[in-house]
Amino acid sequence: MTSGLFARHRHGDADAEPGLVDFAVNVRGGPPEFICDALAGRIGDLAHYPSISDQEKAITAVATAHDRSRDEVLLLAGAAEGFELLPRLAPTHAALIQPSFTEPELALRSAGVPISDVVLPPPWELAPDAVPDSADLVVLGNPTNPTSVLHPVSAVDGLRKPGRLVVVDEAFADITLDVSTGAGEPASIAGTRADDVIVIRSVTKTFGLAGLRAGYLLAAPDIIAQLAVGRRPWPLGTLALTALTECLGPAGRRHARVQAEVVATERAEMVAQLTAAGIEVCAAPSASFVLTAMPNALEIKERLRDKGFAVRSAANFVGLDDRHIRLAVRDPQTTRSLITAIDEVREELGT
Ligand SMILES: Cc1ncc(COP(=O)(O)O)c(C=O)c1O
Repeated sequence: MTSGLFARHRHGDADAEPGLVDFAVNVRGGPPEFICDALAGRIGDLAHYPSISDQEKAITAVATAHDRSRDEVLLLAGAAEGFELLPRLAPTHAALIQPSFTEPELALRSAGVPISDVVLPPPWELAPDAVPDSADLVVLGNPTNPTSVLHPVSAVDGLRKPGRLVVVDEAFADITLDVSTGAGEPASIAGTRADDVIVIRSVTKTFGLAGLRAGYLLAAPDIIAQLAVGRRPWPLGTLALTALTECLGPAGRRHARVQAEVVATERAEMVAQLTAAGIEVCAAPSASFVLTAMPNALEIKERLRDKGFAVRSAANFVGLDDRHIRLAVRDPQTTRSLITAIDEVREELGT
């Protein structure tokens, strides 16, 4: 029953069965109404192929939001597509900062790229010296899924060296906030021009659009050109282009900012509730999820399912094990109901 939980390609959506309270998938509720309206307004256009004008609008929205030039933007059918394109850069040795999202490994491995895992010990502070010198491609998640750790810009910069490309997966960056200063996206380097850095972003998490497949990548124009060679025509549909234009436009950026504040508040409450219940929070979280560790975690996960809750085992992440459970941040009342259920299960198990 639990053996599939160790498969590298498994994601939280496999746990979020209909009818369960979903703590497994890191997607916020949504999409917000203004996005729904914009998408609904385009249904009548679906007889046409996605237009150059829709593509241009989305590129302009992304470039404007990050203060980049238009030729530094590549639109993606979800951040996941960005990993799939990386082998086009012909890396000879990829280093993956672990634990982290498993798709970069799967994409690079299936293209035959040699890989080294750089496994950080808890609390998963970035150690640039641990990256092999020969790595000409380094992939880092910031904030990292599933640890929720946010690495400072200085540490990310430490990964750079001549002859190397650094890929930063910022799929959750739009939900980050410096709670002491109120600054949004405190560790994002999306707005930084550098020839050796690729930033991959998603709109599927914060805007509740996982089913649509929309994201983008920011890099130097010559890297964008290499990544785009041989790509199929119309890689993004009209609705995905419309969503990107809206998410990166003024209303979208306001929405992300509000979501970041909501997440910060709900996450603080969640950490307090978990800690009070004696559940280990593995590292100070900065994203819309919290990594926990508990004895008998797999058994607890199974029993929580019977009680109506879906949680994500993090056993299939490199560097983590069957004690680790990742919880999506939810409102305090929903979190309270989960913790009550965990307490009941722990009592049943005598742990
Ligand atoms: C860290 C991370 N990066 C990228 C992705 C993929 O995002 P998208 O839905 O935009 O393909 C995910 C999805 O779970 C993720 O967790």
